Amino acid sequence: MAATKISSSFTFSLYIFLSLLSLASAFSPADHYLINCGSRADETLDPDHRVFAGDHSRFASSTRSIRLENADSDRGSYSPIYHTARAFNQPLHYTFWTKDRATHHLVRLHFHPLRNECNNLFEAEFHVVANGFVLLRTFRISENDSFPVIKEFVIPVVSEKVEIRFIPSNKWKFGFVNAIEVISAPQDLIADVAQLVDSERNERIDGLLKNGFETVHRVNVGGFKVTPFNDSLWRTWVTDDEYLKSDDGSEKIHFGGQIKYKSGGASREVGPDNVYNTARVIKSLNGSVPNMNITWTFQVEKGYRYMVRMHFCDIASAATNMLYFNVYVNGNLAYENLDLSGITYGLLASPFYADFVVNGENSGVLAVSVGPSNTSLPRAVDAILNGVEIWKMNNFMGSFDGEVCADSILRSWKRARIDVLLPLVGAVVLLITASMLMLRRRNVSVGWSRLPTDVSEANLKG
Ligand SMILES: *[C@@H]1O[C@H](CO)[C@@H](O)[C@H](O)[C@H]1NC(C)=O
Ligand SMILES: *[C@@H]1O[C@H](CO)[C@@H](O)[C@H](O)[C@H]1NC(C)=O
Ligand SMILES: *[C@@H]1O[C@H](CO)[C@@H](O)[C@H](O)[C@H]1NC(C)=O
Ligand SMILES: *[C@@H]1O[C@H](CO)[C@@H](O)[C@H](O)[C@H]1NC(C)=O
Ligand SMILES: *[C@@H]1O[C@H](CO)[C@@H](O)[C@H](O)[C@H]1NC(C)=O
Repeated sequence: MAATKISSSFTFSLYIFLSLLSLASAFSPADHYLINCGSRADETLDPDHRVFAGDHSRFASSTRSIRLENADSDRGSYSPIYHTARAFNQPLHYTFWTKDRATHHLVRLHFHPLRNECNNLFEAEFHVVANGFVLLRTFRISENDSFPVIKEFVIPVVSEKVEIRFIPSNKWKFGFVNAIEVISAPQDLIADVAQLVDSERNERIDGLLKNGFETVHRVNVGGFKVTPFNDSLWRTWVTDDEYLKSDDGSEKIHFGGQIKYKSGGASREVGPDNVYNTARVIKSLNGSVPNMNITWTFQVEKGYRYMVRMHFCDIASAATNMLYFNVYVNGNLAYENLDLSGITYGLLASPFYADFVVNGENSGVLAVSVGPSNTSLPRAVDAILNGVEIWKMNNFMGSFDGEVCADSILRSWKRARIDVLLPLVGAVVLLITASMLMLRRRNVSVGWSRLPTDVSEANLKG
């Protein structure tokens, strides 16, 4: 069984107690840094009611960098955190001291071009490294991106700080950043175990807590877009329509009741109410189980491991023990006869998630499907999915962006500085050598100019 994390059984009444408890306590992370880079204001309120602090005391002050402000008159159309940025043509680093250690931290980097006289931000090109992970390499924004570009990572933090280093790709390049978030993740956001699924295997693997993850897709299936305002970890969940292979035969549903979060299942920090209270389902028609699947496909970069998190919550069945279905990842059976009532100890509308790891994805497309199993019942719901997240996992070099390690990126900048210095030193040495040579030449040339005369004289004499 995938990461259900149900280790012991509780009584029904305890579950109700726990779910009431979880309703009362909102998540408040120990580390919660929201930085509006390049802003002189102490506080900036974004449209999701979050307070971002200015960055003047945040970054290493020894580093030369400049603050950029948008010269655009039409500033009202996007969040105030994108009105300023910090730009640098030398490495810039931000340090965030952590209270919450030995846990994962969420790192979000925001990029939004702004109009200014100094730089064309589309020409920026830089690397980003954090706590030994390569987050971005030779990163550029493109006119074709939709803005803001938000890069989100969940990285294990074992030291007392999160250090985010921005490094221009080379000494002629520069970089920029508009906003940074560093938030300690709730303990249950990343599980140590998952189910590895490919054409030959379907086996439990562990040790995932050592990994870092980059969010590549986060989808609220069958529902509306969820913005950070309605998510206790300030995430964005997009609608599933553009990922759906075909919507023939599937149905979107919405549930108006209470989502029953409980210990052992998904918490509100794993998935908010607005994700679990909508879904896409397959229903029996005319008293027979339809012979179909619902499939979503996701573009991914080749050559990485991915973690696929599928969110389930039976908000569709009329009673318990009526919903049984199969789950496929890349066409491989990931979970057969999934019985949500069994997992949630007979509670409907109680959320749960399952993590699947896909090794070295080589097609560039990742497919997730749900469909009836051979125990699906006629006159019932025969498959359901409420949400999907696709996370890229770091490679063996600790990188999310190519086969390069953080150290070699940091060293490459030092080398670039030496490259600037070397020609300089070389030029000085050359100058000295040349002038010495010229001095000697003057002395020697006296002899030489004489020598031929002497020789000719000698010759003449001879
Ligand atoms: C943007 O998209 C257009 C059309 O697809 C393409 O021709 C152009 O090269 C793209 N620009 C960049 C910077 O990728
Ligand atoms: C938050 O969720 C509620 C309930 O689903 C919805 O009515 C509201 O529009 C959402 N707000 C935002 C800012 O998305
Ligand atoms: C359901 O059954 C009715 C009558 O047997 C038939 O007319 C209809 O086409 C069936 N619908 C589907 C979707 O199979
Ligand atoms: C559902 O998907 C699985 C895996 O790709 C496949 O084996 C099965 O035949 C599909 N079922 C239907 C009805 O297409
Ligand atoms: C139902 O699933 C079981 C277990 O995988 C399998 O042995 C059996 O052949 C399946 N039955 C049908 C009708 O596909």
